[in-house]
Amino acid sequence: MTKDPVTTKDPVTTKDTEPVILAFCCHFCAYAAADLAGSMRLEYPHNVRVLRLPCTGKIEVNYILAAFERGVDAVIVAGCLEGGCHFLEGNLRARRRVERAKQFLEEIGLEPDRVEMFNLSSADGPRFAEIVIEMRGRLDKLGLSPLRIDAEQTARAIDEISEQAEATLAGEQS
Ligand code: FES
Repeated sequence: MTKDPVTTKDPVTTKDTEPVILAFCCHFCAYAAADLAGSMRLEYPHNVRVLRLPCTGKIEVNYILAAFERGVDAVIVAGCLEGGCHFLEGNLRARRRVERAKQFLEEIGLEPDRVEMFNLSSADGPRFAEIVIEMRGRLDKLGLSPLRIDAEQTARAIDEISEQAEATLAGEQS
């Protein structure tokens, strides 16, 4: 467990035996909630990496599958509350894509519970911590992903995905 604030800028350090959770968070709500959880010094598993997206509507099924392909053990997609998306229906689109990703995972023999969509407000720091704890609890039951190669390679892949997500955000804001 950690009390450090969450940031995509932190270097990813992990061990072969530790699960890695990747959280795709919408800039307006879930990312702010993750930041708040860090500022509040809430305790939650440290091996989650938060990637900021302009809106969860930007997430494609391929991004989720690519994360698993690169050895990530679980994926969180976290967006604004329903009705609160700044792009109107981005979070609803994201939920459909997460459902589709679950189907693909099942088809390739990975447990659909490794990915989940959540909705929260920017003030929901405690909820963000609960979500990470929930997903970490799922991994206690599911175990590490059979697609994982080694921790270092997974860490590098997360850095790459993080850079792509930040580039997408920069493109949106320019
Ligand atoms: Fe937050 Fe769309 S802006 S989910």
